[in-house]
Amino acid sequence: MRDLIWNKKKQRKLFLTAAWLMIAGVVLAAPRERLLMNFNWQFAYGHASDIEQDFNVGTRYFTYLAKAGYGDGAAAEGFDDRTWRTLDLPHDWAVEQGFAGHASHSHGYKTVGHAFPESSVGWYRKTFEVPAEDEGKRLFIEFDGVYRDAKVWVNGFYCGHEPSGYTSFSFDISEYLNYGGENVIAVRADASMEEGWFYEGAGIYRHVWLTKTSTTHVPQYGTYVTSEVKGDRAEVTARIRVTNKATEPSSFQVRNAIVNPRGEVVASQTSELYQLAPMYSDEYTMLLPVEYPLLWDLDTPHLYQVVTELLRDGEVVDRYPTTFGIRTIEWTPDKGFFLNGRHVKIKGTNNHQNHAGVGTAIPDALHEWRLKQLKDMGNNAYRTAHYPPTPALLEAADRMGMLILNENRLMGTTDEILDHLRRLMIRDRNHPSVVLWSVGNEEWQIEGNERGAKMAEYMQAYAKKYDTTRPINAAVSGTWGGGISSVVEVMGYNYLRHGSTDAHHARYPWQASLGTEEGSTNTTRGIYVDDQEKQYLAAYDRDTPTGFFSIQHGWKHYASRDYLSGMVIWTGFDYRGESTPFVYPSVVSYFGMFDLCGLPKDNVYYLKSWWSQEDVLHILPHWNWPDRPGEEIDVWVYSNMDEVELFLNNESLGSQKMEPNSHLSWKVTYTPGTIKAIGYKDGQEKMQSAVSTTGQPAAVEMVADRTSIQGDHEDLSVITVRVVDEAGRVVPDANEELVFSITGPGRIIGVGNGDPTSHEPDRFLETVSAIPLSQWKEKSLSEVDLAAAVQPSYDAAHWQNAFADGALVPGSESAPRVFRGAFELTEAQLKGEIQWMYRSIGTGQSLYVNGHLLGEHLDRGEHTLQLSTDLLKEGDNVVTIVAEPFVMAHPWDEVNMDPGALKVVIPAEPWQRRTFNGLAQVLVQSTGAPGAIEVKATSSGLKEGSLSIEAEASERRAHIK
Ligand code: GAL
Repeated sequence: MRDLIWNKKKQRKLFLTAAWLMIAGVVLAAPRERLLMNFNWQFAYGHASDIEQDFNVGTRYFTYLAKAGYGDGAAAEGFDDRTWRTLDLPHDWAVEQGFAGHASHSHGYKTVGHAFPESSVGWYRKTFEVPAEDEGKRLFIEFDGVYRDAKVWVNGFYCGHEPSGYTSFSFDISEYLNYGGENVIAVRADASMEEGWFYEGAGIYRHVWLTKTSTTHVPQYGTYVTSEVKGDRAEVTARIRVTNKATEPSSFQVRNAIVNPRGEVVASQTSELYQLAPMYSDEYTMLLPVEYPLLWDLDTPHLYQVVTELLRDGEVVDRYPTTFGIRTIEWTPDKGFFLNGRHVKIKGTNNHQNHAGVGTAIPDALHEWRLKQLKDMGNNAYRTAHYPPTPALLEAADRMGMLILNENRLMGTTDEILDHLRRLMIRDRNHPSVVLWSVGNEEWQIEGNERGAKMAEYMQAYAKKYDTTRPINAAVSGTWGGGISSVVEVMGYNYLRHGSTDAHHARYPWQASLGTEEGSTNTTRGIYVDDQEKQYLAAYDRDTPTGFFSIQHGWKHYASRDYLSGMVIWTGFDYRGESTPFVYPSVVSYFGMFDLCGLPKDNVYYLKSWWSQEDVLHILPHWNWPDRPGEEIDVWVYSNMDEVELFLNNESLGSQKMEPNSHLSWKVTYTPGTIKAIGYKDGQEKMQSAVSTTGQPAAVEMVADRTSIQGDHEDLSVITVRVVDEAGRVVPDANEELVFSITGPGRIIGVGNGDPTSHEPDRFLETVSAIPLSQWKEKSLSEVDLAAAVQPSYDAAHWQNAFADGALVPGSESAPRVFRGAFELTEAQLKGEIQWMYRSIGTGQSLYVNGHLLGEHLDRGEHTLQLSTDLLKEGDNVVTIVAEPFVMAHPWDEVNMDPGALKVVIPAEPWQRRTFNGLAQVLVQSTGAPGAIEVKATSSGLKEGSLSIEAEASERRAHIK
């Protein structure tokens, strides 16, 4: 292969360059840091319509919009968030909610949305240190995506607002930070409104980063690297944007080095001296040749990097790596799609970011696992329906070799809407996996008319400003022949039932095209007889009653026409919401080739037969039909063998030839036993496969996709749990209750089973709640018999209402006072861990609960007081504080008059899930230490399943604690 011809002499020279660059890097401190900011956030629900329950944010005389730094309530720097739940990102609170029939069909009937104001707003706060040495740098907080309508404050300063649930956003927070001290970021996400008609989750469901740079730096997404392959060399064009955020002019040189997949520098160049005025930015272009480039391709996804360095007086003040790939793509109107000059038929799936157990909060390793399932099926393309994907997905696609059809969210041409397209494009245009931009999907209001055509043309022209190397697509459903479909560069056909691609192609022969959506068939994993009542649909691949084509029907069309670049199935994986053709209680879609857990339905084997290079011989259905003796059963075989012979209990049922892109079927009269298939290729027996009637469930088995993971707090193992009979065969209709336990440096982060009607929880979490202290009364200590006044039986009704007169003004004398408050506990809360998150309201404080002294002479500040349950009772309880109230130093001071609240933590129930048709899934993630993680699954009457996963010693990636 040309890829592997490698000039030794050249290699040595390049290696020397690499060594030199590395030395430069070692001598100087890291000029840029990018720290993951996912760990140890505090979380609580706010409220979408009750301001008090939304922590009274924005209620002060001067709000955060009136004056800088006036964030109040939960947005305030000093807000006490100790009663909140501590969690790691990514986080989707919607998946933690229950279901309700009046909730949104689109969002899978989770109790989030406008009908549920109490669970539709989430607050996140994180306290973090910024070292004193960072003063003078530029610091940015970067969000890969928050669902949705995010508002962000840093140290009480309002930073900004991002309505989109999908567009990445960032803020330069340099001036807001306390250097050498503590800082707090507060984020309010409001998921009351929907952007999509599919499950979208809620909260900070993608990564957050803190990036530190020098004042002269490459801004976020500030590079655009393209390449042109010319014979044995590639010409790489690096367009580098540089910003000067200093208050004086900056002069610098730009040095770009290209590092090949082996880590060797293969080209490098330094620019002349440039100058930028304060606050200006400009783009600098450099051409760099790469000899004998290793091309990025589906099976050999070679990745290069441009390492950009900014030099000031010889010192490296910024180093910005851009990962890219050298490859060519071509979308042709008559022959389809070409990658590196080779014809590649697009064999794709549409997918939403959504998985069992975790909802939209998919850890990076799970993105990778999902792509692997698709790739193993022979799937080479992924349409990010219908929104900008998370960067982690694109990084995995780059590494693994998957084509990405990258979709924008909302079609439109105002500056605001176009800006989302711009941000998507500048963020993603260096990814070699991205081969197409999509500006719209089934825009019914406009797709067939002149306005649609105008908008598509305008967006197409706009997009060229940001990338000329990939064409623009829009997916069109009903109206092929006019409107958007008449102008778009790459026509996207959504569903063959809507018309004739041949007629459209004949009318627009200049247009490249593909099936952006095909399928929308409805199947349930492991089900072979429709059951309308239970809302399960047989997994045989069929045209739907509403006219959608079966997967085979669709693929035959796309496979047989050269002008069609390929087909993208609706969908790869089931997702929450859109449980068409059913409504509640069904909560998950039926469209997937895989279920919500990524467990394969039978269609996977049809596709694998014709999409992958692997030999396939798959029989459906299962052979456990005790209620159907003597009945004719449709037995199908998915295979890419030339011929298949089927046997029931070793008696031949005949042999059939396989037509390409088809399947075989037999009518078989049911008797228990074994259905066996023998596959022949070139006249020779090539493979066998069999399905047998199983015995009763006997044991639980667990299989991990990886039994060794990185102990880095992020990596995870995907575990399939199976209920098997004595002979170790999966019992295909087993629906057993399982309970999971785990020890060692691992935690379960989600469970699932792919049952679209299951309302079992995905997550088993401790419940954290805040109990207010109320009914505060106060009186001077000198007028009170303290021993009596701290007792629960004491009647303080005649005391004055506490804190009513406001704080003591400057110059006042403070004398000890007694404050009595109350709180209520339920029986369930009494079983939890209870702490009083106390905040000083004065000096010389003593605290009592139900007459028991908790602490004396406490320091000024915050105290966490453990309340043992023998001090407490169900119903009313009493707290008493003796303190000398604070005196204001200045009239504008704010002194604390809020003694805090109780935090009640009720431990989680054990993780559990039923198997659905024999299978369930458990996601196990590293907790950040090395060691053996032991996972167990028990089910009454069955032999227990267990599994050991080794967490390897591994550094966490650079992060904020
Ligand atoms: C399409 C739509 C998809 C999904 C699908 C279900 O019209 O683009 O997002 O809704 O139908 O059949």
